[in-house]
Amino acid sequence: MIDFKKEITQKISRIVNIEVDKLIQFLEVPPDSEKMGEYAFPCFKLAKELKKAPQIIANEIKEKMILPDEALERVEVIGGYLNFYINRETLIKEVLNEFELKKEMFGSSKDGAGKNIVIDYSSPNIAKPFHIGHLRSTVIGGALYNIYQFLGYKSVGINHLGDYGTQFGKLIEGYKRWGSEYKLEEGPIDVLTQIYVRINNLCNQDENVLNLCRDNFKKLEDGDPYCIELWEKFKGLSLKEFQKVYDLFNCKFDSWKGESFYINKMPEIIEMLEKTGKLVESQGARVIELEEESMVPCIIEKTNGSSTYATRDLAAILYRARNYNYEKAIYVTSYEQILHFKQVFEVAKLLEMDDSYKENLIHVPFGMVLLKEGKMSTREGNIIKLEDLLEEAICRATKVIEEKNPNLKNKEEVARKVGVGAVIFNDLSNSRIKDEIFDWDTMLSFTGETGPYVQYIYVRTKSILDKAGYIPGFSEIDFSKLQDKFSIEVIKVLYSFGDIVKIAAEKNEPSVISRFVINLAQSFSSFYTENRIIGEEKKVKDARLYLTNQVGVVLKKGLELLGIEVPSEM
Ligand code: ARG
Repeated sequence: MIDFKKEITQKISRIVNIEVDKLIQFLEVPPDSEKMGEYAFPCFKLAKELKKAPQIIANEIKEKMILPDEALERVEVIGGYLNFYINRETLIKEVLNEFELKKEMFGSSKDGAGKNIVIDYSSPNIAKPFHIGHLRSTVIGGALYNIYQFLGYKSVGINHLGDYGTQFGKLIEGYKRWGSEYKLEEGPIDVLTQIYVRINNLCNQDENVLNLCRDNFKKLEDGDPYCIELWEKFKGLSLKEFQKVYDLFNCKFDSWKGESFYINKMPEIIEMLEKTGKLVESQGARVIELEEESMVPCIIEKTNGSSTYATRDLAAILYRARNYNYEKAIYVTSYEQILHFKQVFEVAKLLEMDDSYKENLIHVPFGMVLLKEGKMSTREGNIIKLEDLLEEAICRATKVIEEKNPNLKNKEEVARKVGVGAVIFNDLSNSRIKDEIFDWDTMLSFTGETGPYVQYIYVRTKSILDKAGYIPGFSEIDFSKLQDKFSIEVIKVLYSFGDIVKIAAEKNEPSVISRFVINLAQSFSSFYTENRIIGEEKKVKDARLYLTNQVGVVLKKGLELLGIEVPSEM
C-alpha cells in the first residue's frame, strides 16, 4: 500500500538533501485535516542545518515541488510549516485494493517471518487463587501474542506456573497437620488457601514451625516421595480450576513449563555463575552483588541450599534461548516485579549465551487492579477470584441483553462474548502501566468507549449487509463515490491499521489497538448516521456497502487481536 509519509519525505529529501529516515520522524499529523492537510512538516527542524529561516525553507521546498501527482494533491505553507494534502482518490483506491488482496489479513505484515517471540504470561501460582491480578497478565500477554503473530512472528506463549517455592513447604506442613479436617476435592483452591493462611499464622507465632516448613521444601527439592505426591496432588487440582478460567477466555498456551521444570537445571546456572567469580557468600546464602547497578543483591541459593524464584527464572532464560532462539523474550507481570526482573536480567548477562539473548529480555509491567476496597492480597485471604468475576460479568451482560433484545437467539453465547469482552476491553483500554479501576457500569455500557460498543458497531455492519443481501464485488466499486468527508474519515482510519499494529508491538502496548477500534467504530458510526446506504442509487450503495464490509472485517480483526470475540447478533 502507498506510504504517504515516505512519499512526502522522499520529495523533501530530494530538494534539501537530507536523508528520508531523519525527515520522517519530524512529520506530524495535524488535528484538522480540512484546514491543515493530512500531514505537516515543521521546517524549523531544518533551520539550523540549512541556515535559513523556517518560513523561507518552507517556501523554497514548495516552489520546487511538482504537484499534484499520484500521492499528493497540493502543499501549502502556513508559518514555518509545509502542509500536505494527500490525493484522496489514491488513498481510497489503495485502501480498498489492499483489502481486496488481503481480506482478514488487511493490516498484517511479514516483518517477523522466521523470528520467534517468547511471551511469558498469566503464570498463576499453584494452590493459590487465580485472582484479578492475573487477569491483566493473561489479557495483556494474550493480546501481545496475537499482535506479534499478525506481524508474521511465531509467538510462543508460556505459562510459567508458580508451581514451586517455599509456600509448598508450608502447604505440605499444613496439610500434614490438618488435611483430614478438610474436603479438598470440593473446592481445592479455597481449601488450600485456608490451610495456607492457617499455617502462615502459625509460622508467624512459632519459629520452629517455620523451620519445619523450610525442611519440607528442601525435601521436596531432594525428591522425597511423600512431599512429591502431595505437591502433584495440589498441582493437578489447581490446574483443573485454572482451566475453567482459560476456557472462558478462550486462552491457550504453547508451553506449561512452570518453575518446577527448571529444578534440575539449577546446577548448570550455579556453575556458570561460579565461573565468573561473582557468586559470593552472604550471611550463609550465595548471591550476586548488584551494588554497582544500585540494586540489592540477587539471591541465587538460600542458606539451606534451596533455589529461589530468581534462579529459576535464570534457568528459564537459558532454556528459552536454547530452545526457542528468541528475537525477544517478553515477561508480563504487575509492576511489583520490576525490581525482580531488573535483577534477573542483570545477572543473566553473566550466563553463557549470545549477547542478543541478553539484550532482548523485556519486562512488560502493568498497573494494579483497584477495587473500591483497595488492593488484594493472598495472605489475608480477601481476594476476588477471576472465575467469580467473569461469571458476574456474564450475568450482568445477560441482564442488559434481556432488557434490550429479549428475543435474541443464543443469548447465553452472546452474553459470554459480551461479558468477557467487556472485561478484556476495560483492561486493555488504558495504557497498561496505569492502575485499572473496576467499574461494572461503565465497562458494560453499549455507548461509551467500551468492548460492547465496538461489538455493537460490528453487529451493525453485519445487519446492514444482511439487509442489502449482498456484498458488492471489488470491480464494481466507483471510488469517486467515497469522496465525502465521512467516508474519507473511515478510510483514513482503516489506512492507519498496519502502522497501528506495528506501534502496538514496538511498545508492547495493546491499548494502541483498543484506541484504534474505538476510532474506527466511532468514525463508522458517523458515516452511517450521515450517509444513507440502502436506498441510494446503485453506485453509491455499492461503494458504501463495500466499505461497510471492510469496516466489519477490520473491527472483528482488531477485537480478535485483543482476544475479544464478536457475536453475530446482539
Ligand atoms: N507466578 C508469578 C506470580 O504470580 C508470575 C510469574 C511471572 N513469570 C516469570 N517468569 N517470573 O506473581
